[in-house]
Amino acid sequence: MCGIVGYVGKRSCLPIILEGLRRLEYRGYDSAGITILEDGRLETRKKAGKVADLENIWKSTGGSATIGMGHTRWATHGEPNDRNAHPHHDCSGSIAVVHNGVIENYRALKIKLEKSGHLFSSETDTEVIAHLIEEFYEKTTDLAQAVRLTLRQLDGTYGIVVMSARDPEKLVAARKGSPLVVGYGEGESIVASDASALVEHTRDVTYLLDGQLAVVERATVTVKNLEDVEVEKAVEHITFDLEQIEKSGYEHFMLKEIHEQPETIRNAMRGRLLAADGEVKLGGLQDVMEKLVAAKRIILVGCGTSWHAGLVGEYMLEQIAKVPAEVEYASEFRYRNPLVSKDDVVFLISQSGETADTLAALREAKGKGATVLGIVNVVGSTIARESDGGVYVHAGPEIGVASTKAFTSQLTVLALISLMLARAKGMAKRDIVALAKELDAVPGKVKKILEDAKVVADIAREFKDARHFLYLGRGANFPVALEGALKLKEISYIHAEGYPAAEMKHGPIALIDEHMPVVFVAPKDAIYEKVISNLQEVKARRGRIIAVANDDDMEIQAMAEFVLRVPRTYGFFGPILNVIPLQLLSYYIAVARGTNVDQPRNLAKSVTVE
Ligand code: AGP
Ligand code: GLU
Repeated sequence: MCGIVGYVGKRSCLPIILEGLRRLEYRGYDSAGITILEDGRLETRKKAGKVADLENIWKSTGGSATIGMGHTRWATHGEPNDRNAHPHHDCSGSIAVVHNGVIENYRALKIKLEKSGHLFSSETDTEVIAHLIEEFYEKTTDLAQAVRLTLRQLDGTYGIVVMSARDPEKLVAARKGSPLVVGYGEGESIVASDASALVEHTRDVTYLLDGQLAVVERATVTVKNLEDVEVEKAVEHITFDLEQIEKSGYEHFMLKEIHEQPETIRNAMRGRLLAADGEVKLGGLQDVMEKLVAAKRIILVGCGTSWHAGLVGEYMLEQIAKVPAEVEYASEFRYRNPLVSKDDVVFLISQSGETADTLAALREAKGKGATVLGIVNVVGSTIARESDGGVYVHAGPEIGVASTKAFTSQLTVLALISLMLARAKGMAKRDIVALAKELDAVPGKVKKILEDAKVVADIAREFKDARHFLYLGRGANFPVALEGALKLKEISYIHAEGYPAAEMKHGPIALIDEHMPVVFVAPKDAIYEKVISNLQEVKARRGRIIAVANDDDMEIQAMAEFVLRVPRTYGFFGPILNVIPLQLLSYYIAVARGTNVDQPRNLAKSVTVE
């Protein structure tokens, strides 16, 4: 699930691998390791903890090696300790494997291998791969062939890189369900699980597809399928630059990404929204437009924050475009044998485009004949590739594990889709123009909210020791409450729940006392008065109220202990603005508590396992 970087070339590989691993740290991990080839032998060092700890145990050694590979592990099978960290070896120590993903049939394979005399030194599922390769290598003496035969035995998901002391000039990489990208340099090649680990060295890359195996050598890279037939590799050029994956003076990536939002929201609309004409152009949906307009319902599928975006999307699609919409957790959708047919359109929402559950949901829906469309950030990711069409959100690399700018860009794209469909379904041009202008003004309003970030920092200090938080909102702002609560949980480890405000009296109200912070998302919309009644109910029980309210709402001051101001906008675009102070609140609370904001414990940036 986490990070892989392998290098073969002329330069000393160790610093390149360490730097690559550092670039992958954002994905979340618990241990790390590196294998290099030195004096004809594989040398492996690995450790629970951070890449910095790993660097310490390599100190001033391994400098002459020019081929090697590293891994950051997010444990699925076996504790996150030194022994279970990757790379893993065969019995002889001459074959090493790094692996992202899960081998589902590893138990049966392990029993069989142990019976035939293999000795295991970890509790991971991954180690069976090394021993299987060892078995096949005895017979074929060709590393790529041994890997290929091994892969046929495996059920589950993998992105792997293999090296062998007996075949010292190549890395063998293969993928099924877990991304790998190969980069071409000057007399060197780099393979990684994520382009950010290699962009410093090259921008020309090939994304491996499921079922492909690459033999990566210094001057050549050969890509074959599992039948050993060479396939043509598409060479792509990466456009993002290093600066986009660096902190640019901010203390954390999350803060940088929060502050990027005026720009990223604008990028999601750029060239697509012609506000004055009330026109929306989404190239990636052109070919499926007929299907989309004819769809009796639209299903939105995602996980976590992307699922929250789907919930807001449901309001937008129903209220603006008048299309019935449903939202599903990808993990539930994939296993409940959903009633989906060729008349349905399913949008898969995913920042990474690699989330295992969302990808499986895509395949489930596609298998049943539905039109599957992606709303994805990472260009070239698996969900983007396997969709029938879709829209990139163009938020740029999101490094903080807690998603912020991807969320507001997802909402922006959902708003664009809703406007486009509304137009196609006959909404009056005048009305569309009015909405389009509102949407066009959103980036400027986000900028204004961010100018007051310091106010949020002060409030955060006040609540840093709270043990619980409630977030309440109604309508399209109920998902905003959920998202605010998720952000707080993820990075500050404070227990938080989001609820539809009116549901509070059906249970959660029992939690309210003078210690309970309650965040109300209360813009001046059609249900403002209702939300205020709920707010009064909390106030009557002495809960501590923080309200997200419009700039011109002067009444709320008397009712809430703290007010976070946001400009007014059209109701269903409100969530794009209202979530911003909540992102800042969770950020500043986490900073005040001293947690690891960008890499919170136990979390991974892209969840490529079930
Ligand atoms: C967001 O802050 C989370 N880290 C997480 O819920 C995330 O949104 C979820 O894992 C889905 O990821 P995706 O958008 O890359 O598919
Ligand atoms: N399943 C493997 C393990 O637990 C790989 C996990 C990962 O993707 O980092 O070691």
